[in-house]
Amino acid sequence: MKVLVLGSGGREHALVWKLAQSPSVSQLWCAPGNAGTALERTRANTPVVNVDIASDNLVGLLEFARREKPDLTVVGPDNPLALGVVDRFQEAGFTIWGPNQRAAQFESSKAFSQDFMERHGVPTARAGTFGDAGAAKAFCRELGGRCAVKADGLALGKGVLLCHDVPAAEAAVDEILVQKAFGAAGSRIVVQELLVGMEVSLHALCDGSHALLFPTAQDHKRALDNDQGLNTGGMGTYSPTPFLSNEQLEAVGKAILDPWLAGCAKEGIDFRGLLYPGVMLTPSGPRVLEFNARFGDPETQVYLARLEDDLADLLMASAQGRLAGRRLHWKAGAAVCVVMASAGYPGSSPKGLPIHGLDEAGRLPGVKVFHAGTALRDRRVVTNGGRVLGVTATGLDVADARAKAYAAVAAIRFDGAQWRSDIGSKALNQG
Ligand code: AMP
Ligand code: GLY
Repeated sequence: MKVLVLGSGGREHALVWKLAQSPSVSQLWCAPGNAGTALERTRANTPVVNVDIASDNLVGLLEFARREKPDLTVVGPDNPLALGVVDRFQEAGFTIWGPNQRAAQFESSKAFSQDFMERHGVPTARAGTFGDAGAAKAFCRELGGRCAVKADGLALGKGVLLCHDVPAAEAAVDEILVQKAFGAAGSRIVVQELLVGMEVSLHALCDGSHALLFPTAQDHKRALDNDQGLNTGGMGTYSPTPFLSNEQLEAVGKAILDPWLAGCAKEGIDFRGLLYPGVMLTPSGPRVLEFNARFGDPETQVYLARLEDDLADLLMASAQGRLAGRRLHWKAGAAVCVVMASAGYPGSSPKGLPIHGLDEAGRLPGVKVFHAGTALRDRRVVTNGGRVLGVTATGLDVADARAKAYAAVAAIRFDGAQWRSDIGSKALNQG
C-alpha cells in the first residue's frame, strides 16, 4: 500500500519510521517532511520521498493525491485537520486518517470542547466561555483570579495564560479578547479555574465508535529544567508514568472516554483519529484541561518507540471503523525522548547550522534519533527550526531509557543546542 504522511515535525518522523516497518507499506511519501523522513526506507528498501507541499496546502495535496493515488493518507498536525483536509480527501474518494473538520473542533475550538464536556459530563475544570470582556472578568473575580485564560482557536500552542491573581487575570482577558494577541483565535475565550496536580497526556485511537487507550505519557512543556522558562511545544516525554497504575489508568480512561464517546454518538460526531486529552490528576479526580485531535509531539516519539503493532494496519482500521475487539500491544519497559532545540527557542532561532554526531548517536543501543526541524543541504543534515531533534531511547525502565537517551544527546552537537537535563525525573523522584 502507498501511504502519504502530512507534516514535518518529530511526530511525523516517528509516524514515517513506524509506518515504514509495516510489511504492507510499499511506498511512503511525507509532505513536506524533514531530513529524517527522507533518510528512512520501507521494509522493501524503497526510500521515503519528501514532497515539497506544505501540510496546510490543501489544493496542492489533493493534486498530488490525484496523481499518485495514495491508499492511505495520515495527518500529523492540527492545522490541516482544522482546515478540513479529511473532508476534502474523502470527497475526492481517498482514504485518509484523522478526524473530519467537525470532529477536529475538539482541538480547533476550546469553547466547543468545554461546552461539549459540560453537556456530556466529561470531568473538566469549572469554566465559562465568553465573547465579552466584562462578563469574563467577572468570572475571573469569582475564581479569585486563579484561572487559565484560553483563546478559543488554534494559536500555535501559545493561547493559554495562567493567572494567579485578579489583576493578572483581567490583563489576560484584555490581552486575548481586546488586544487580540492571538488574532481571530481570541474572538472568544474559555476561562477555567486553575487546577493543581500532576499533568499527564492520554492518547486514544478512535474509529467513530470505539476508543483504544494508550499507556500514559508525560510531556515537559517549559523550556528549562524544573519547569522553569517559557512554554514550548514540548521539550521531552517519557512513557509510562508512575502516577497511575494500569487499573487507575483504565478507570481514568473510562471516566473520560465513556461520556465522550456517548456524547459523540448523541451528537453525530464521527471521530476517527487520535484523541489526546491533556489531563490534570487532582485530589478530587482527573480533570480534562483540553482535548487535542491528533498525536502529541513529542508524545508520539515515545509511544511509537514502544508500540509493537503494525501502525499502518491500526490507522487503516481506525479510518474504516474497524477497531472493535482490537487490543494494542506495547513493549515492556519504558521510552524517553529528549528534545534538542536551537538557541533562542521558543523564540526565533537560527537555521542552517550543521548537526554532528547523528550516526554515532543512532548506533547506540535502544536509541532512535527522530528529526524535527532539520533539512538536508548538500547531503548534510542542518538545523531548520526551533525543535531540532527528539532523541529517543527505550530501556528496561525510565531510568535505563533516560540514561540511554542522554548518552545519545551527548554524542550530538550543533551550535547553540539546548535541552532539558531533567526529562523523566518526576518519574524517578516518585521512587
Ligand atoms: P492547554 O493548551 O489548554 O493544554 O494549556 C497549556 C498548559 O497550560 C497545559 O498543559 C497546562 O500545563 C496548563 N493549563 C491549562 N489549563 C489549566 C488549568 N485549568 N489549570 C492549571 N493549568 C492549566
Ligand atoms: N505535547 C504537546 C502537544 O503535542 O500539544
